Amino acid sequence: MKHFIDIADFSVVELENMLDLGMKLKAEQKSGVFRPLLKNKVLAMLFQKPSLRTRVSFDMAMRTLGGDALYLSPQEVGLGTRESIADVSRVLSGYVQAIMARVFDHEHILELAQWSTVPVINGLSDYNHPCQAMADAITIIEEFGELKGKTVSYIGDGNNVAISLMKIVTKLGGHYKIANPEGYDMPDEAVKQSLGFAADSGGSVSLFRKPEDAAEGADVLYTDTWTSMGQEEESSEREKVFPPYQINEKLIGYAKPSAIVLHCLPAYRGLEITDEVADGPHSRLFPQAENRLHAQKAILVKLLYEGDPDVN
Ligand code: CP
Ligand code: NVA
Repeated sequence: MKHFIDIADFSVVELENMLDLGMKLKAEQKSGVFRPLLKNKVLAMLFQKPSLRTRVSFDMAMRTLGGDALYLSPQEVGLGTRESIADVSRVLSGYVQAIMARVFDHEHILELAQWSTVPVINGLSDYNHPCQAMADAITIIEEFGELKGKTVSYIGDGNNVAISLMKIVTKLGGHYKIANPEGYDMPDEAVKQSLGFAADSGGSVSLFRKPEDAAEGADVLYTDTWTSMGQEEESSEREKVFPPYQINEKLIGYAKPSAIVLHCLPAYRGLEITDEVADGPHSRLFPQAENRLHAQKAILVKLLYEGDPDVN
């Protein structure tokens, strides 16, 4: 495994192995076992946008695995402005053992990977958020035992989080439903690709306009902000269009009684999700956020550890 950029780059077996490893490393950590699998390894964390979960979970993942991490802010690096992406990538490759980057343009993460001689991890781009999808899958598997056959309904903007979620759900045999307003659809290419994954796994993809239609019979209701980072100037327009797509008590009524609610966070409470739901009995928002740490550990170990991490 060279880089971690898109869920689509991995086979079902590779994804399942990584998810199993994440759950194993979580259980170990909960019982006080910290194996220094990444001793002497350092991760550079390059950010063009703000972050809480991605920054802290990657940093803590490296520390709990015996390694270290360096935070590089947008101002100090000036990726693609102060210095070309190709040069930043080649310089960092000489200092650290892996690079995690959060970028505006997906092409930038691909360019970093093209020039890097160390693994590159996508910590979110305008196109996708694969590390988030790994934590989402762990959270669903912990709740229901498996993702196969489960209905995961995403309500809201067809954005980076919606795309990676669709890819992992369809890779693992789940049924992915999305309801979004016209003009905020997911890219055709990503839907087409996921239809292919679903054909192989026994899953499905269904696209709706009405939130109630997507929520009907859901095991998982998922939402994200209506305005992603970089789209701030569109927020007033988006806040006119998206209110019918709020996850609230009424919408939960369409899902299964056992349904859980997920949100990648940060949440804009009162917009895409109500306080009542975010803090209610169906919410798994904080276990999901915690699982970012364990998902990150699995990704890092698969990229950087030379031995067999399943052998204690
Ligand atoms: N979910 C997520 O990626 O959160 P941050 O933007 O805080 O990293
Ligand atoms: N879609 C959001 C996710 C934040 C974790 C964004 O890109 O801003």
